[in-house]
Amino acid sequence: MLDIFSTLIAPPLVAVDVGTATTRLYASASDTLTEQPSTLSLRGAQTVDVADEYLRHTNRQLASRPLRGGVVVDVRNAVSLLRPLLRQARQRFLQPISLASAPSDTTPLERARLQEALLQAGAKKVYIIPEVLAAALGAGLDIEQGQAQLLVDIGDGVTDMAVLRHGRIVAATSIRLACSDLQRAVRSSLITLHRVRVSDSEAERLTHCLKALLPEDDGGETLQLEALDIGARRQRLCQVSRRDLALAMEPLLTRITATISAGVRRLPDEMRREIAAAPLCLTGGGALISGMDGLIAAGTGLQVRVADDPLHAVINGAIHTLRSRHGDKQWWDHIDWPTFSA
Ligand SMILES: Nc1ncnc2c1ncn2[C@@H]1O[C@H](COP(=O)(O)OP(=O)(O)OP(=O)(O)O)[C@@H](O)[C@H]1O
Ligand SMILES: [Mg+2]
Repeated sequence: MLDIFSTLIAPPLVAVDVGTATTRLYASASDTLTEQPSTLSLRGAQTVDVADEYLRHTNRQLASRPLRGGVVVDVRNAVSLLRPLLRQARQRFLQPISLASAPSDTTPLERARLQEALLQAGAKKVYIIPEVLAAALGAGLDIEQGQAQLLVDIGDGVTDMAVLRHGRIVAATSIRLACSDLQRAVRSSLITLHRVRVSDSEAERLTHCLKALLPEDDGGETLQLEALDIGARRQRLCQVSRRDLALAMEPLLTRITATISAGVRRLPDEMRREIAAAPLCLTGGGALISGMDGLIAAGTGLQVRVADDPLHAVINGAIHTLRSRHGDKQWWDHIDWPTFSA
C-alpha cells in the first residue's frame, strides 16, 4: 500500500544529455526519448523570402546556440531550449528530477550554469555526472572490472577522455575541440580555395574526407558538390579535392590525438599496460566520421573500437544510471567528480 502511495507521489525521473549539437531527454514516466538540435532559430518569417541566394543561405544559419565546447554559455536561451522538453516529462504536475551530464573538465561554475538552466526550465532537482562515465556505461563497458579501460567521446564541441577502473574514473582529460571544429576547418578551406560556402549537413558530410589522411587512402579523387558562390551569390557546382579538405582538418586531428597520447603518458606504467591490452572505446558523433578510428589508432598507437551506437552512448548510460542507482541515496549525494588533468 505504502509502495503504491509512494509511486503516486514520487516525482518523475529524466535523464538528459544537453550536448553542443543535440539535446536528448529520456522521460521515465512515458519511457520515451526525445532528441532535438541544441539551437533556437532566430529566423523571423519576414527574412525567409529574400531574392538573394546568399542572404537566404545566411538567414537559414541564424540561430542561437546556448552551448559552446560542451558547456552552457547562455543560460537564458538554454532554458528556452529545455523548458518544452521538461514540460513534456512532467507527470501529474510533478516536476521531474533530472540526471544530466557534463564534460570531465567542467568547472563548478560551468556545472552550476547547467544546473540553473535545468531548474529554471522546470526540473525539481538536478544531479550531474561526468559525461564520460555515462558514455562508458552506454557503450556497454564493464567499468566495475579491475583492469583499466580507456574511453574517448568526440562530440560536437568537446573531446573527453577517461580511464575507468573499479567503477570509477581514475583519470580524465579533455579538449574543447571536436566535430564542429572539423566542420569549421572544412568550411574555411572551401572559402579560401574555392570561394564557396556549404550547408551544415554538407560540411558534416565533408568531414568524412578525413580518411584521406590514412596511408591506405590515396586521397586523390575529387568530389563534386553544389555550393554557394560568395562572389556570384548563387549556387554552383564545384570540384573539391578530398586531400585538401583532409589537410585542412589534419592540425585539429593532431591536437585530439596528442591530447589522448598525453593523457595516456601521464598514467602509471601498470595502468598504461592495462589500457593497451583492450581497445580504446570511441563514442560521440566523431566516432561516426569515416577513418576516425584508424587515425586515432595511428596517432596514439592504441587499438580503437567504435561503440555500437556512439551518438546515444551518453544518454543510454544516463538512463542506465537512473535505473541502477534508483533509491541509492548515498550514491546520489556523493557523485564522484574526476580530478581533471590538462
Ligand atoms: N554520421 C556522421 N558523420 C559525421 N559527423 C557526424 C555524424 N553524425 C553526427 N555527426 C556530428 O557529430 C556531432 C554531434 O555529436 P554528438 O551528438 O556526440 O555531440 P553533442 O553531444 O551534441 O556535443 P558535445 O558532447 O561535444 O557537447 C555533430 O557535429 C554532427 O555533425
Ligand atoms: Mg555529447
